[in-house]
Amino acid sequence: MPKVLIIGACGQIGSELTFKLKDIHGFEQVVASDIGYHNLEVVNSGTFEIVDAQDYNSIKICVEKHDIDTIYLMAAMLSATGEKYPMKAWDLNMNSLFHVLNLAKDGFIKRVFWPSSIAVFGPTTPTENTPQHTIMEPTTVYGITKQVGERWCEYYNTKYGVDVRSIRYPGIISWKTMPGGGTTDYAVEIYHQAILDKNYDCFLSENTELPMMFMDDAINATVNLMQAPSEQVKIRSSYNLAAISFTPLSISEEIKKHIPDFKITYTPDFRQQIADSWPKSIDDSSARQDWNWSHDFNLEKMTTEMLTQLGRKYQDSEINS
Ligand code: SER
Repeated sequence: MPKVLIIGACGQIGSELTFKLKDIHGFEQVVASDIGYHNLEVVNSGTFEIVDAQDYNSIKICVEKHDIDTIYLMAAMLSATGEKYPMKAWDLNMNSLFHVLNLAKDGFIKRVFWPSSIAVFGPTTPTENTPQHTIMEPTTVYGITKQVGERWCEYYNTKYGVDVRSIRYPGIISWKTMPGGGTTDYAVEIYHQAILDKNYDCFLSENTELPMMFMDDAINATVNLMQAPSEQVKIRSSYNLAAISFTPLSISEEIKKHIPDFKITYTPDFRQQIADSWPKSIDDSSARQDWNWSHDFNLEKMTTEMLTQLGRKYQDSEINS
């Protein structure tokens, strides 16, 4: 049984991955970690350690203490925050990756999962059905760190035999933990505001189309990739992954089917330029071929699920307050 460590377990994806990995591997086999006690549900769900992703020894001590053999490195600074703090984004995103890759190279762990992103693409990339192998000239610091990170993952795999696996996540939509500092965050905020206020002022323009995915699909993809036999994982930079593409207008139309008086307005800010540099849709045929990836949630199904779950969550919090 592998013993796994999630770094960044309090974040949007890390938190749900932690619960899923506990289901799969068993409660005792999973160690959650983060830089602070930022998500009490995760902190109280089992073994939790404070780990600084930028400190090699901090990670190594945790790995040795718990006899870890697989690390999921989910700590990162996302696109919008990265533009505000370029050097901090570079330091966090690159240092953490090197530490984990070096732990694998030096034989302390066996396997690494590291997420990449659609942010590796840029304005010169073909925007429709963006191929796995294409022009990549990212214009955000976040995108630059992910693209460079992909090169290093492939390098560590080829030169040192490190079993590192990666997915280029699109915007991830979920109801349990809020995303932080991304350009695709509007697609989560809009559901919260629809329930709380029946109103949402969107920071992207109405026809900005971006690739997106419901959390359950993203988690399944991650788990499936990590469970695939090594020889099936032919791409060691990062796999394109796709589910749905939509615009702020089309998601608002879908929400209106449930909440007819929902209103959306548009006040694009600096994130518009980031969104405009990214693809509208992604060709993920390599992932579908190599390790049988397929998605489950379309816009309709995801909207029903988001509004149902968030409706319950806000009702419960009202009852408990
Ligand atoms: N969700 C990320 C962002 O918006 C993209 O990977 O920064």
